Amino acid sequence: MKNLIYLDNAATSFPKPIQVQEAMLRYMNEVGANPGRAGHKLSVRASEIVQSARESIAALFNAGDPSRIVFTLNVTEALNTVINGFLNPGDHVLTTAMEHNSVMRPLKYLEESGVITLTVAPCDHRGLLKIDEFKNMVREETALVVVNHASNVCGTIQSLRDVRKAIGDTPMLVDAAQTAGCYPIDVEADGIDFLAFTGHKSLLGPQGTGGFYIRAGLSVRPLKRGGTGSVSERLEQPDFLPDALESGTQNNIGIAGLGAAVDFILKEGVEKIRRHETALTANLLKRLYDAAGLTIYGPLDADFQTATLSFTFDSIIPMDDDPGFTGCGSVNLAWMEAGMPVGEAGDRLDDEYDILVRVGLHCAPIAHQTLGTYPDGTVRLSIGYFNTSADIAFAAEAIKKILS
Ligand code: ALA
Repeated sequence: MKNLIYLDNAATSFPKPIQVQEAMLRYMNEVGANPGRAGHKLSVRASEIVQSARESIAALFNAGDPSRIVFTLNVTEALNTVINGFLNPGDHVLTTAMEHNSVMRPLKYLEESGVITLTVAPCDHRGLLKIDEFKNMVREETALVVVNHASNVCGTIQSLRDVRKAIGDTPMLVDAAQTAGCYPIDVEADGIDFLAFTGHKSLLGPQGTGGFYIRAGLSVRPLKRGGTGSVSERLEQPDFLPDALESGTQNNIGIAGLGAAVDFILKEGVEKIRRHETALTANLLKRLYDAAGLTIYGPLDADFQTATLSFTFDSIIPMDDDPGFTGCGSVNLAWMEAGMPVGEAGDRLDDEYDILVRVGLHCAPIAHQTLGTYPDGTVRLSIGYFNTSADIAFAAEAIKKILS
């Protein structure tokens, strides 16, 4: 394959650790059977592989009992299961102005159907939740707070501990699509009640995998009901986890790969992964910070964001009264000098430099509204664990050449 520089890890990580494909091939070639559906040797082996993946994920998030980790097809299915299965008519939900459509669309649907009322709490121009305002938005009938842990657009990380402090005992669902595997998550210390994760981004597993953690004492109605391989004599869905929420044959080959990926992460250590990605992000920010004709969005500080950066190929002149302005990242589009459309910039990175990024709205229009980059969106460059400082230097030079 051509020497491509893959910087679209927020969409899906690439490449994966070699152990992932080895585990998937092993499952296909040597196991193959359906876990929990028979008592024969291969089915038992398949069950052991799925259980081992569940245990590794529980260990990664300090979730305790592995049966409280439920597998789904992706994080969207995980979020939909919790949102649709936990909420009841009359409930109020509080969420943030940095959410992805995988949170906003199911919530908006419930709101428009008259099932729930919804409040979207504002975030500042760097995507950070305005925690004092947020705190005052919690009501007596607030049944769920839904928080994007880190923005898929510009990487802004919300402090889950500050959110927990602000909301008291209200149940909290965290969308960890952009943080699971690359940022430390501890469901106990962070006060998380539901943690939705995808397998194919920073968890380094294959597409078609994901899931969620559900705190003991809380329950959700299943999104689907059916065969579980357990209590087959009954026509009612089992009421114990994970079977209550895992009907039908799962993506077990994918789960085998995900288990191997999480074992890789546990062995490397999330802190080491975070350190590497933070160093590359800081490196890129430093190289691009003063680039004339480029505006970068988000915290502009590697310690307060994931390895995802968004920018536009134009210049913004700060307003005199913007005390937060530190060189770039302002969102005052009224002052923006005309620049290169994001699609053209993305195409030039791809065609001329073999640098692969994602442009546009990234399925998160309200996050772009918050940043002031709606409706055109941004060029998003998202770094992964397997990127190197040479990739970053090359990408920064390519961006500067396009600017000039
Ligand atoms: N949500 C994914 C992204 O941000 C697909 O690109």
